Amino acid sequence: MVARAPIGIFDSGIGGLTVASSIRQALPAERLLYFGDTAHIPYGDRSLREVRAFSAAIVRALMAKGCKMIVIACNTASAAALKEVREAWPRYPFIGMEPAVKPAAERSRSNVVGVIATQATFQGELFASVLERFAQGVRVLAQPCPGLVGAIETGDLDTPGTEAMLRGWLEPMLAQGMDELVLACTHYPLVRPLIERICGPGVEVIDPAPAVARRVAHVLGERGLLATDGTGGLQVSVSHLTPELPNVLRRLGLQAETIAEVEWRGGALVLP
Ligand code: DGL
Repeated sequence: MVARAPIGIFDSGIGGLTVASSIRQALPAERLLYFGDTAHIPYGDRSLREVRAFSAAIVRALMAKGCKMIVIACNTASAAALKEVREAWPRYPFIGMEPAVKPAAERSRSNVVGVIATQATFQGELFASVLERFAQGVRVLAQPCPGLVGAIETGDLDTPGTEAMLRGWLEPMLAQGMDELVLACTHYPLVRPLIERICGPGVEVIDPAPAVARRVAHVLGERGLLATDGTGGLQVSVSHLTPELPNVLRRLGLQAETIAEVEWRGGALVLP
């Protein structure tokens, strides 16, 4: 493995670009290879078994491109596959998303912490283990948000429909005294302004992306794999091109050198 190799990042769609954006800011010399599985989105409505199979195929495709590390920038795919890919490739560095219950529990004064995520994320063992490790002494309100990923993918970031959906989930949590809200789906930071408007100043909204970027830097540093020279960049490929992609890149301050559409072939993927 060499330091100038790219970092592979994937998600079910455009959500993981929120993580790519934090990595790009923290590590501007790194080359990022991003894949969004938009042909199969939403992962959150699928079985963990199915998401695990997609994730393993994407991991193989990113490894075939020579990636020095893979960031699973999707809470659902992390819940479904992080443990398995680490077992399958024990020496390879994988970074996954874990619901940020720990900082939320530490900072909460009301001891009521909200977590919003996909249904599949709440069903995985990872969430159960996070609760066991970090939620002692706090009440955790776990709220799935079906349909929110779809609205975000189509660019409905601040429409009356998206606001109504969010109010339906968040207002009951506010009524129970929540003062910390964890965004445990990488799509949700794209509607953070709307979430903050609904929750008001009394609630801290936690997006783990900057912490994930710091972890990426730490693990690469430990292995002597940090890119130090040259300017990095971002290459994006998706399994179904959508008109929203350029808008999201712009919104996140990202510039893609290339945007490609790649086709799944019999459960396997070859990235450009
Ligand atoms: N960004 C994915 C996550 O973090 C969305 C999952 C989906 O496609 O439903 O969970």
